[in-house]
Amino acid sequence: MKRMTVPQIQARKGKDPVVMLTAYTARMAQILDHHCDMLLVGDSLGQVIYGLPSTLGVTLDMMCAHGAAVVRGSYHSVVVIDMPFGSYEASPEQAFVSAARIMSETGAAAVKLEGGEAMAPTVAFLTARGIPVVGHIGLTPQAVNALGGYGARGRTNAEHAKIIADARAIADAGAFSMVVEGVIEPLAKAVTAEVSCPVIGIGASADCDGQVLVIDDMLGMFERTARFVKRYDDLAGRIDAAAGRYAEEVRARSFPGPEQTYQPKP
Ligand code: KIV
Ligand code: NA
Repeated sequence: MKRMTVPQIQARKGKDPVVMLTAYTARMAQILDHHCDMLLVGDSLGQVIYGLPSTLGVTLDMMCAHGAAVVRGSYHSVVVIDMPFGSYEASPEQAFVSAARIMSETGAAAVKLEGGEAMAPTVAFLTARGIPVVGHIGLTPQAVNALGGYGARGRTNAEHAKIIADARAIADAGAFSMVVEGVIEPLAKAVTAEVSCPVIGIGASADCDGQVLVIDDMLGMFERTARFVKRYDDLAGRIDAAAGRYAEEVRARSFPGPEQTYQPKP
């Protein structure tokens, strides 16, 4: 199977939903790859992998290391790598230098960056230079300090209009897809209808052109998650139980057993 391409993702607008999950490691990428159209190496790895309080402390080094692992572990999905906070906002030139490093060190096909109208010139600058860009609007976690929290967006008329304008600006600038996160459902539908690129929802609407979730959230690795997360498993519970059985057997000296030990040849 050949790896999917950015134009193939673009062509999915109004057709089959785009399936996207985050991945941060090679092995997880291997497991998820054939189920997905796109794998996102999200800066959510700050919280998920590194235990940081937000995504603000995530570095380009982290994104490059995990991005390269996910590209090595996948052969089918388009791999998209988040540009971390501070690596792109200052200018289109800064964004290009950071994105070029991400692309050359990881082999990924695209980057994602947060922001609407203010980031449109940057999206255009990268796109014109051969770097496919996924936008990210609505609830943008890198702006948590300005937004005042992780609550759903678009409940006031002004916020609703602003997010539609953001979507249009990013799409017009050439983003080949965009994530819309944490907005009221009618707004997610309106954004999806407004732009001609596939809109990937998270905490958005089933009527978006695709969906993304943080893999550890949907696997049940965390006690508390956002309302929009559906848990498809209880991995934390299953890991806890497995570690408990192991600890019990070590203490009882019933592990290792005959199958796990080497004996001299007779
Ligand atoms: O970092 C991330 O995982 C993301 C998705 C939630 C869209 O940006
Ligand atoms: Na992100």
